[in-house]
Amino acid sequence: MTDDPRRAAAVAHAPSPHLVHWQPPDPRFRLIDVPTPLEHLPRFSAALGELARAAGQAGGPEVWVKREDLMPVGLGGNKTRGLEFLVGAALAEGADTLVTAGWRWSNHCRLAAAAAARAALAAHLVYAGPPHATPGPGQLMSELLGATIHFTEAPGRAALEAVLERVAADLGAGGRRPYLIAPGGAAMPGAIGQALAGIELADQLAERGLRPDLLAVATATGGTHAGVLVGLRIAGLSTRVAGFAVSGPAAPLRATVESLARELAGRSGLAAARARRGEPLDWAAEVNVDESQLGAGYGHRSAAADQAAALLARTEGILADPIFTARALAGLVALAREGRLAGRTALFWYGGGATGLFETLEG
Ligand SMILES: Cc1ncc(COP(=O)(O)O)c(C=O)c1O
Repeated sequence: MTDDPRRAAAVAHAPSPHLVHWQPPDPRFRLIDVPTPLEHLPRFSAALGELARAAGQAGGPEVWVKREDLMPVGLGGNKTRGLEFLVGAALAEGADTLVTAGWRWSNHCRLAAAAAARAALAAHLVYAGPPHATPGPGQLMSELLGATIHFTEAPGRAALEAVLERVAADLGAGGRRPYLIAPGGAAMPGAIGQALAGIELADQLAERGLRPDLLAVATATGGTHAGVLVGLRIAGLSTRVAGFAVSGPAAPLRATVESLARELAGRSGLAAARARRGEPLDWAAEVNVDESQLGAGYGHRSAAADQAAALLARTEGILADPIFTARALAGLVALAREGRLAGRTALFWYGGGATGLFETLEG
């Protein structure tokens, strides 16, 4: 054991009144101490109202934002939520190295490097595709955080997973004790952290007497979407969660989100509690994945996302990245313009990633 207080992993969980059925499993390695802010966006809301009225609609929504970009470690972001449990599991297993993968702009990779530094673990990151002639900001920040970077020869997910396995095997053969985290930090136990974030949000909404009609979230590996959805349902909120796909088509992602949500609902006791009340959750209906903002695909620019980011920046002074966040924002803007949010309360899940503003993207 260590006497580093940060590594004393068994930490009490936030005393949410909603955690009656579920005590998430320790070990957990704390990376955030306080809830991320929930903020009203009055000028952005007014701008959406104007857009809706200009399109002949009755009006727009009142928009609130959950600032998952405001966290103390590694410039923050939604992936920190999952890493608390992934790093906790790694430490509990006696691992000495985190091994994970993502695209060169991956917030997950940067945050895994930051979390590893905090937990006195080594980090090896695999980036998809050959290196760029000039290292991008994601790579530079991860290297600054002490991570060792590997690249795949070929682009694409299959090569990424193959190299990830090989790097972990090589580290093991060399006497290290690697803990392998799936690309993008997807899957359990990371999704548990996202569910807690959903519960945290529900507590903040309750304090303000808000019951939003819609929550917009950017979805890539599906962990955040599934976790937040389950967290809200644990807290008794029926807010519709709209996941805007940013990295691939809706159908396979919907299946992933559904399966993660089902597993989380089972583990947390939510499924059993709803069944006892005669109100089982229909995950096929609960999981909404919208691919309307995918445009030319993952990591390409999109005019709608750029416009949505500019609107947020110029009304509220908040910078959103073009790869993840601005896509969900563009989805919200489109719904408002179509008049589907008139008089409603909408929530925007800002998962962080503003460093994506500095990445070189395809047109
Ligand atoms: C800033 C940001 N928002 C949203 C997402 C989507 O989260 P998930 O991969 O859990 O679907 C990611 C990561 O992929 C991200 O980095």
